[in-house]
Amino acid sequence: MNKLKIGSLRTNLILICLIFQLFNRIGTLEEGINVFSFSSLWDSKNDTSSESSSESQYSEFCQIIKDFGYPCEIHSVMTKDGYKLTLFRIPDSHYYKLRKSVSDVPKKQPILLQHGLLGSSITWVINNKDQSLAYILADHGYDVWLMNSRGNCYSCEHDTLNSESKEYWDFTFEDMAKYDLPAAVDYIINVTGFPTVSYVGYSQGTMIFFISNLLYPDLADKVPIAFLLGPVANVSGIQNGFLRVLSGYGAGNMLQFLGFQRFSPSPTLFRWLIVDFCTQCETCCLSIIESIVGPHHASFNRSRMPFISSHEPGGTSTKNMIHYTQLINQKQFQSYDYGEVDNVNHYNSTKPIVFNLSKLSPKLKLYIYSGSKDTLSNPVDVASLVGQLPKESVKKWKIIKDFAHIDFVWSIAAHNVIYDDILYNLDDHLNFSQ
Ligand SMILES: *[C@@H]1O[C@H](CO)[C@@H](O)[C@H](O)[C@H]1NC(C)=O
Ligand SMILES: *[C@@H]1O[C@H](CO)[C@@H](O)[C@H](O)[C@H]1NC(C)=O
Ligand SMILES: *[C@@H]1O[C@H](CO)[C@@H](O)[C@H](O)[C@H]1NC(C)=O
Ligand SMILES: *[C@@H]1O[C@H](CO)[C@@H](O)[C@H](O)[C@H]1NC(C)=O
Ligand SMILES: *[C@@H]1O[C@H](CO)[C@@H](O)[C@H](O)[C@H]1NC(C)=O
Ligand SMILES: *[C@@H]1O[C@H](CO)[C@@H](O)[C@H](O)[C@H]1NC(C)=O
Repeated sequence: MNKLKIGSLRTNLILICLIFQLFNRIGTLEEGINVFSFSSLWDSKNDTSSESSSESQYSEFCQIIKDFGYPCEIHSVMTKDGYKLTLFRIPDSHYYKLRKSVSDVPKKQPILLQHGLLGSSITWVINNKDQSLAYILADHGYDVWLMNSRGNCYSCEHDTLNSESKEYWDFTFEDMAKYDLPAAVDYIINVTGFPTVSYVGYSQGTMIFFISNLLYPDLADKVPIAFLLGPVANVSGIQNGFLRVLSGYGAGNMLQFLGFQRFSPSPTLFRWLIVDFCTQCETCCLSIIESIVGPHHASFNRSRMPFISSHEPGGTSTKNMIHYTQLINQKQFQSYDYGEVDNVNHYNSTKPIVFNLSKLSPKLKLYIYSGSKDTLSNPVDVASLVGQLPKESVKKWKIIKDFAHIDFVWSIAAHNVIYDDILYNLDDHLNFSQ
């Protein structure tokens, strides 16, 4: 495929422009700090499409799943610190019953799919049936639960906090590990009556899994099997242009200083960028997306692009982005660095807590999938990550040739090289035949 080459200076300029332009309303919240008023590309505060009509947004998501002939349920889970998360569930698949040619086949156990940075539950249904992991698992009898971490478009409500407030956006992936994952797991166990839940985490979803398990060693009893796609911990080898620019120029801290608490691309800009711009020039469009998410290498379905872009990306807090830049700059997997003085208040130590992967429970059964062309979950970093994990816990580490970070979820080849393998190992562990 012929990719448009953009000079590096121009790429950086585009990136910096994007970083600033991608923010919406929150910037206008704090006493008129509306420094960047590219109003035509901006969602004005009036545009409440992502806020007020959350119910219809949830059913819209479910409709994607229903259109493929699956049932879809909407579940609301409250975390201990009051965040309301939306989990979508595909409880059943009539294709499974057809395959088994009986109507009451035994239900297999629940499995939780956790998206990555700036993602959402859409991550798992991007492609068609037989290509997207959520449908594939459902077709093999699993009870599929799609997670939405705090702050993304499906989980941006709180019991007491206004989601436009600074306090609401005071979180990073560490809080998703501390509160969101345990809440979702307990909820699923409660609803389904199964004692365990399996897990698939992509990118940030693997960090959440690691931290959660370090904080709660008992979690290994509830979530014994995990499939980790594009795993991330110590990201010092990261080559992603977007995150590099963000950390290199201190742009993250600058944004927070300016009052941008929410790191959420403006849907209007995105629609303009992808849907309109992309139909004019597919190659230019791809270049811009790739400068953010990293290049793709495996085959992906270009005609799904408008669909993908109208649902991705999901948004997160600026603090979360800063946390990433800290990992990059300080070259280790650690908790948020508040500075020497405030660290003492948070951690009783002047330094942030280091997450030591070798302290994970050896009872865990981990299946790791990494890509040889992944610039975000860099092959050198992954090798060091796998080396730190307790040896007993690593059941498999498969390096997918020519896969880049986005390919784990976007590629139409992912089901051949990864998803089928996940199914095979899952069935094997749970003593099911395929
Ligand atoms: C925002 O809403 C106010 C009042 O509802 C209206 O007067 C104003 O024109 C709206 N602004 C935009 C940009 O739609
Ligand atoms: C479990 O379910 C019961 C009944 O449905 C409910 O009362 C209880 O609060 C639930 N517990 C959790 C942790 O969700
Ligand atoms: C690509 O997506 C389109 C639209 O969803 C679909 O009709 C087509 O079959 C897909 N192609 C492949 C190779 O999956
Ligand atoms: C993180 O990785 C980098 C490069 O691989 C290495 O220099 C650094 O020591 C690592 N940090 C830790 C805490 O292992
Ligand atoms: C804080 O750390 C000091 C020494 O590092 C320890 O003696 C003290 O008990 C700790 N305090 C708390 C509340 O954990
Ligand atoms: C991680 O823990 C292991 C033992 O559990 C220890 O040997 C190692 O030094 C620790 N690494 C760091 C960076 O603290």
